[in-house]
Amino acid sequence: MNIYKEISNSIIGKLKEIPEIKDYLTPQILNNIAIEIPKVRDFGDFSTNAAMLLTKSLGKKPRDIAELLVSYIKEIPNVETVSIAGPGFINIKIKDTHIKETIFSGNFNPDTEKKQKIDLDYGGYNVGKTLHIGHLRTTVVGDTFNRIAKFLGHTTKSYNHMGDWGRPMGLIIAWILENGMPSNVDDINRMYPASSARAKEDPAWLEKAQKITVELQNGNPEYKKIYDTFIPMSLGQVNQLLKRLNILTFDENKGERLIAEYVPTVEKILEEKNILEHSDGAEIITVKQDTDTEPMPPVMWKSSAGAQTYAAADLTAIYYREKTDNPDSIVYFTDNRQTLHFKQIFRAARLVGFAENAELQHIGFGTITGSDGKPFKTRDGNVPSLDDMLNIVAESVRKRVSESGKKLSDETIEKIALAALKFNDLMHDVKSDYIFDVDSVTNFEGRTGPYILYTAVRLNSILKKVGEISVTQDCDLLPEERDLLMFLLDFNRVTETAFEKRAPYILANYAYDLCKLINTFYHTCPIMRDDIEEKVKSQRLMIVKQSLNVLSKSIELMGLEIPEEM
Ligand code: ARG
Repeated sequence: MNIYKEISNSIIGKLKEIPEIKDYLTPQILNNIAIEIPKVRDFGDFSTNAAMLLTKSLGKKPRDIAELLVSYIKEIPNVETVSIAGPGFINIKIKDTHIKETIFSGNFNPDTEKKQKIDLDYGGYNVGKTLHIGHLRTTVVGDTFNRIAKFLGHTTKSYNHMGDWGRPMGLIIAWILENGMPSNVDDINRMYPASSARAKEDPAWLEKAQKITVELQNGNPEYKKIYDTFIPMSLGQVNQLLKRLNILTFDENKGERLIAEYVPTVEKILEEKNILEHSDGAEIITVKQDTDTEPMPPVMWKSSAGAQTYAAADLTAIYYREKTDNPDSIVYFTDNRQTLHFKQIFRAARLVGFAENAELQHIGFGTITGSDGKPFKTRDGNVPSLDDMLNIVAESVRKRVSESGKKLSDETIEKIALAALKFNDLMHDVKSDYIFDVDSVTNFEGRTGPYILYTAVRLNSILKKVGEISVTQDCDLLPEERDLLMFLLDFNRVTETAFEKRAPYILANYAYDLCKLINTFYHTCPIMRDDIEEKVKSQRLMIVKQSLNVLSKSIELMGLEIPEEM
């Protein structure tokens, strides 16, 4: 169900039937015809600039052309009124009965025409490092994007490209060799920073770690044994946190280590195609082009110490994904400091001819900052782990709830906290930085996760009190009801746009605007009051039901959960 598409198609179809203009509808003009949803819906549900685009070719005034078009557009089924505004915009209003029929059917399933196969690369956690604030956006936005794509009927495969085969592994193993095995994951997470700090001061230590890394990669059994004991601990912690965050299970935890198996194959291809160059003991791929205006360093295929590099893993992963998935696109979600890395990798892939039929796309994120504009830190000046973040938010929710005199279960507090944290992340355009402020994200009013959940809980509690809802008699719609229904009709277009633009924030903000309309409706259109006629009551209950239908779907797509009470 996508009324936008339905109307657009009908309008275009109609224009093509008009004898006076049909010969002038060049592909270019057709392309430029915009069917828009006006901000203020007083004059219409849709508006189009079609008349204006035809003035040149017809040599007539836009208003005269508009008048002609109006007489035809009126014939489109389900159109109530067509009017002209300004210099020649055409406003179209849909029949209330059609709006109601469509919404009350409860069918909000998408009608995606071209189903795609998409590989998604997000998460990309690192062994030996606790998940921290820097992993929030890739996790939350990647997961929601995955859910949206699946909802639209696309086939996705989510890859957690683990950072589990590089120098940090050598640093951890070197530390273990000197200080003994870690007994738990916290031990491991302390080892890497300690060893890494030492490497900064002690070149011999760094060299040792580099050597261990290369030997591990070449199959040294002693190192592999150590590695195999701490890897599961680290993965266990990652999975536990992903569960707490309500993130879909990754289809593949194939990262730097598991892709290593394919590196020799790719290296052979690179050699055959004469793409590898030797430079100071390292092996590189030149990706600079004459037209470049910005620096474009070569891809480091193998380090001078002989280690598999970050870049090699990513290039090989493209090879692997093409072979196993043959995707239409591969989309990466990481912070924007990796923009250059992905540019290099994509160029290298094009150079060797990997994934030639796939679009390669990197979505780079901005930074989460404190109110000072610097990367967000905890009060004691540390980079917060994701667990810390959730705890900070949950604490704030708990405080608010107890101040308001309510009693909510821990489970509910956790759901609200999760919504506060994730929604705040989702509602911002990923490309820009945003300020994280605990007090504002946990507010029950305004553009926040708790507000969204609260609205859903309210609708749920209305519906709990009534049985089966059926509308048998038609009655007029108040403007607040009509606005809400028109907005519900936009759900499928919104999910499609969020998908096409790789922009879950479009869905998040839709959910917020939807809640605002729901609450306006709720306050202006009483439902259960004694003086409300039965037929009005059942129509309003139906509006509640379908609003909840769309709102819960949006909530689910954002990976949030509606609590029992709030
Ligand atoms: N492990 C990397 C990091 O923390 C992120 C991995 C992103 N994905 C990728 N295919 N490179 O920086």
